[in-house]
Amino acid sequence: EPLEKITLKEPAGAAPAKEVKIRDCSPKIQGQRVHIKGWLHEARIQKSVGFIKLRDGTGFLQCVLTGDLVHPSLHDVLIREATVSLYGTLTVPPPGKKAPQDVELQVDYWQLIGESNVDLEGIINTESHVDQMFDQRHIVLRGTRASAIMKMRSLAMKAFRDHFYDNGYFEVTPPTLVNTFCEGGSELFTLDFFGSPAYLTQSSQLYLETMIPVVGDAFCIAQSYRAEASKTRRHLAEFTHIEVESPFIKFDDLLDRIEFLVCDVAERLFKLDKDLLLTVNPNAKIPERPFMRMNYEEGIKFCRENKIYKSEENGVPVHFEFGDDIPEAQERKMNDMIGKPIFFCRFPHEMKAFYMARCPEDDRLTESTDLLMPGVGEIVGGSMRIANYQQLMDAYKKEGLDPSQYYWFTDQRKYGTCPHGGYGLGFERFLTWFLGEEHIRNVCLYPRMRDRCSP
Ligand code: 4AD
Repeated sequence: EPLEKITLKEPAGAAPAKEVKIRDCSPKIQGQRVHIKGWLHEARIQKSVGFIKLRDGTGFLQCVLTGDLVHPSLHDVLIREATVSLYGTLTVPPPGKKAPQDVELQVDYWQLIGESNVDLEGIINTESHVDQMFDQRHIVLRGTRASAIMKMRSLAMKAFRDHFYDNGYFEVTPPTLVNTFCEGGSELFTLDFFGSPAYLTQSSQLYLETMIPVVGDAFCIAQSYRAEASKTRRHLAEFTHIEVESPFIKFDDLLDRIEFLVCDVAERLFKLDKDLLLTVNPNAKIPERPFMRMNYEEGIKFCRENKIYKSEENGVPVHFEFGDDIPEAQERKMNDMIGKPIFFCRFPHEMKAFYMARCPEDDRLTESTDLLMPGVGEIVGGSMRIANYQQLMDAYKKEGLDPSQYYWFTDQRKYGTCPHGGYGLGFERFLTWFLGEEHIRNVCLYPRMRDRCSP
């Protein structure tokens, strides 16, 4: 039946309707006639009554259609994801019935803004394969859980920014098209920059270091790229990187700052929207301070004592030795056995980036740290930086880097050097941990991974 026939006229003499967003609906304005636009999150049209769960981005609202408004043709029109304009009066739900916003809309008139299609149920449903889910990410994002995660992502971004602004940091926006590398060459995405080779940045650290003589404590929130060969539940090819650089600090100050950041952001998220946070992760907690601080050397000892092995050769377990990189799986095993955040510190220089400062007490080691979280693993990587000109020149040489490309980075050591350090926090890793998600792809808008660059 044509839509015109089932769309009623606005009831004559109805009170003027106030246009509102769902977040503004509450028992405080019960009795008010309102006008709300949104998407049909769910629709259940029965013989004499229709229930709609409306979504407008600010919340969900239960809406009820009765009387003349209920018509058999509604089944073809009021379907999932159609956009509508609803008019009606807000009432408090009957005793014992719960509703989002604690009110219901008794609809007296509605208009269709944009149709949807029933094929949606076939495209994506609870049985869909993960590949299908990510092919249809644009639809999945509208779902209850995915949309809640996207809102927490937004609030977390605000919490990080607020933390930095409230503590005197300046925000800068470094370029992400670069001609140098920061974390080692194997994970670079290369591109053609008007005939010259260039890369997508792995980290904004080097540029951030140039900003400390300009603004003091500096931070940036930028995309970083890693051509990671491995496919794991915590590796992305593109991620949001929150990076910080601070002048005139010591290694212990660096650890204190990271700990303060993580706990303060967790606290801010509880303040910003505790209800939403706890619906996404009922186990969300502000971690206890101080975090455990464990040196790499102690970690090797821990593995040896707790049957965490480097590998197995012909069924014989091989122990870790000093100098071995502890791979992700074993590191996570250690982390999960300990069951709380760990600052894993002072790694041998061979396994770390060229720019890291050595430990004054042991030249084999660097003043470096990874913050490990149970269930997820590393969420922050940081270090003190080489402040001395000659040491940096030696480090380029050892790494096989051409210093001429890095002259602007080197100049920081030539014109007023200072002890300094910083860190990078993987925003999606943080969210995976704090929101208790199983897989990092679930906290991304459109994840970029080894086998996915679309949509
Ligand atoms: O430990 P990383 O490689 O350190 C750096 O890039 C430093 N230059 C940062 C700095 O000191 N300014 O990376 C920092 C963090 C990791 O702890 C992790 O949380 C995240 O970035 N990260 C990734 N997140 C998702 N997918 C990947 N492939 C990631 N690689 C690193």
